[in-house]
Amino acid sequence: MKYRALLTFVLILNTGAACAAGDADAGGKLFAKTCGGCHSIGEGARGGFGPELNGIIGRPAGTSPDYQYSDAMKNSGVVWTREKLAAYIEAPKKVVSGVAWPKGGTPPMA
Ligand code: HEC
Repeated sequence: MKYRALLTFVLILNTGAACAAGDADAGGKLFAKTCGGCHSIGEGARGGFGPELNGIIGRPAGTSPDYQYSDAMKNSGVVWTREKLAAYIEAPKKVVSGVAWPKGGTPPMA
């Protein structure tokens, strides 16, 4: 995935489901397709296979209350910024060392 596309995409995460028009719509579909199997955003989002991602920009990693994170994620000390997220989506282990994303599997975009 190209870095610029990633940043647009990460912006969608920032605004979440509230933003359903124009470019954001395309981003939303991309989110649903690429991340939606494991993550939810928007009202009533809950942790599933992965944690819910509401307000992820500015949130410290590993702090969604209803999700059991790996120790690597909980102790990473990372606070999600657009840049951190884009880098994480490209190469999770470079941002959070030892992270289990997805647990035992291959990140879909790596
Ligand atoms: C196959 C399942 C899966 C897919 C697909 C997936 N993730 Fe994840 N994601 C996870 C799991 C599991 C974790 C928790 C990892 C841990 O605790 O170490 C996670 C963690 C995260 C976190 C950290 C959340 C926090 O609260 O600190 C972010 C951000 C994230 N994913 C973004 C994304 C984005 C954006 C996409 C789509 C491009 C995506 N993920 C696709 C399974 C997935």
